[in-house]
Amino acid sequence: MTAPDEAAPAGVPRHVGVIMDGNGRWAAARGLPRFEGHRRGLEALRRAVRAAQELGVRCLTVYSFSSENWSRPQEEVAFLLGLLERFVRNDLAELHRAGVRVRVIGDRDGLVPEIRALLEDAEQLTRGNDRFDLVVAFNYGARQEIARAARRLAERVAAGEIPASAIDADAVAGELDTAGLPDPDLIIRTSGEQRLSNFLLWQAAYAELVFLPLNWPDFDRAAMEAALAEYARRERRFGGLGPEAARAARNAS
Ligand code: FPP
Repeated sequence: MTAPDEAAPAGVPRHVGVIMDGNGRWAAARGLPRFEGHRRGLEALRRAVRAAQELGVRCLTVYSFSSENWSRPQEEVAFLLGLLERFVRNDLAELHRAGVRVRVIGDRDGLVPEIRALLEDAEQLTRGNDRFDLVVAFNYGARQEIARAARRLAERVAAGEIPASAIDADAVAGELDTAGLPDPDLIIRTSGEQRLSNFLLWQAAYAELVFLPLNWPDFDRAAMEAALAEYARRERRFGGLGPEAARAARNAS
């Protein structure tokens, strides 16, 4: 069995983050209510999980509800909470059979106890799976996540558990909701918008960004393939030199 932390096939991102945007526009373009866009968005999410698994990705993080989404009309918020519940209740058994480990990131304290328990049960059931990680970002905001991590580190320093000098980038990463997961190699955003909108700001430091001109409900395997193909064409340097520049530097010295 392949573990999610094993390398993905060459040229394939190990961890893909997705900003599932454009549900409302998809619906408006068809004269449908916004919730219909979200409902179709859940179907697209199922296609995305399947495509990622089939194409050799090990981990998929999906932005399902941001810390800022509470400002939407109450009925839309209730519908999105209901979709999360529906997704976990309907799909968990199949995900578990497929060896998927489910993890939910974001601020759980902002959710009602019934949903919190549902998410905890899903994580508990699948915690031993090691074929694929599905990370659902719900009530998630990267700035809030980083602030929570900073607060926990400050508490540990105040309690005398660690010296302040022990706080480095690894220590911060270890307190984030994503602790233990690899950083995303690729972030995909649909709908043509080109921004991160408070998604994985720390973890995406070296992620490649791909913006697709389709709305999320239209996302399918071909769209995933297109994003992975674009990723495979990128040269990742992580702040170092590319092979050509490195050769030139060597020749010049
Ligand atoms: C952004 O589109 C999308 C969301 C805020 C919700 C994403 C939810 C899903 C894809 C369904 C799956 C959900 C769960 C909970 C598992 P938008 O509504 O901002 O679209 P717009 O910018 O066109 O209005």
